[in-house]
Amino acid sequence: MRITIIGTGYVGLVTGTCLAHIGHSVIGVNRHPQKSSQLNQGKIPIYEPGLERILAGARRNGKIRFTTDLGQAVQSSDIVIIAVGTPSRRDGSADLQQVRQVAVQIGQALRKYAVIINKSTVPVGTARIVGALVKKHFRGKFDVVSCPEFLREGSAVRDFLRPDRIIIGSESSRATQAVLQVFRNIPGKKVITNIETAEMIKYASNAFLATKISFINEIANVCDRVGADVEQVALGMGLDPRIGQAFLRAGMGYGGSCFPKDVRALNTIAGTKGYNFRLLKSVIEVNNRQKNILLKKVKKNLKNIRGKKIAVLGLAFKGNTDDIRESAAIDIVRLLQSAGAQISVYDPAAMPNARAVLDGTVKYANNSYQAVVKTDAVIIASEWEQFKKLDWSRLRQSMRGNLIVDGKNLLNRSILERLGFRYVAMGK
Ligand code: UGA
Repeated sequence: MRITIIGTGYVGLVTGTCLAHIGHSVIGVNRHPQKSSQLNQGKIPIYEPGLERILAGARRNGKIRFTTDLGQAVQSSDIVIIAVGTPSRRDGSADLQQVRQVAVQIGQALRKYAVIINKSTVPVGTARIVGALVKKHFRGKFDVVSCPEFLREGSAVRDFLRPDRIIIGSESSRATQAVLQVFRNIPGKKVITNIETAEMIKYASNAFLATKISFINEIANVCDRVGADVEQVALGMGLDPRIGQAFLRAGMGYGGSCFPKDVRALNTIAGTKGYNFRLLKSVIEVNNRQKNILLKKVKKNLKNIRGKKIAVLGLAFKGNTDDIRESAAIDIVRLLQSAGAQISVYDPAAMPNARAVLDGTVKYANNSYQAVVKTDAVIIASEWEQFKKLDWSRLRQSMRGNLIVDGKNLLNRSILERLGFRYVAMGK
């Protein structure tokens, strides 16, 4: 099928590339000429394992190209996918400016029937707004479908190609059939709902996962007080299939471009409809507090943070990505700096992004070994697998102190204690 995807951020680029990979003819639209031309050369602006390789294959087969010309792309497509950003506004609601703008542009460009699929995470009711905006400019027949995306950064390609489910919020059988064609080679249960339900499934899923994380973080904080081990608690709980093992890793709180924004947005959506979503308010509060709990652990163990040298390993909001949006690691660096610590950092992928937001006094190391030299403490702030495999005895020798505060419960206590470290984790 001929598909246009508007927006080439994480979701748009992965979706477009994967659709080209499974044989569709895809045009990716990006407003910035420079970004489009780099993508046309196969250069991707994000770190996402496996993406560059399948983009290269799709380009070789002539299945994907990028342009700034939204109008021409829309006119030559049967399917138009909206995958633009919906950042948080100050009040927590989703900013729909880009979605609205794109809807108008699609309406102005359309000449024949097309299915418009919305993949951006948008408040319930947005697909109808998109439909109304398109209709203002195009009098012909078209359909709007909501098809939320569930991919995770770091495993986005696999998540897209092997999803657990594909949600299709559609009220036209012609559009539903077209969308089923788009995903015909992709496994996973196809769930067909009305548009509002599809939009809600996305928010409810992210909010539930965030709730699981805040719940286990609360349990971790109690574990700290009673001498229990949250990892074993999570294991013991998760073996009950009604609970499940996933998303029960305690730590310094969730971050990223999705959970914080979507939980706030759902809370706002409920509020504007006169419903006080108490549980979500607590989820947000617990998540914000978690970084301070980590900071308290550092303070307690170092006595005084002022003048101490501290290495922060990991800056991304989680491992396997270069994304630092709402990263708890970045917040921790700032909190430690304002408490008077000197900070050195290392992250395998996120340092260029971090440089753009952190102040100039942070020292950027070339690797973890360099980051810890003469430091009093190390903080693990993203779950990169490579931190587990470090030669920790070598790190111990080059440090001035011996404290590790593991904000992601990534490392093994008994190994580290044998090497002479003081190991402090979250709830263990
Ligand atoms: C999340 C969802 O998992 C995806 O299904 C969804 O498509 C995506 O948001 C989105 O809405 O676009 P992502 O933000 O890439 O994906 O990252 P996750 O792997 O879900 O992790 C989010 C945060 O939660 C990270 O900071 C991570 O460290 C934290 N986390 C995750 C925990 O603290 N504990 C856990 O057990 C799991």
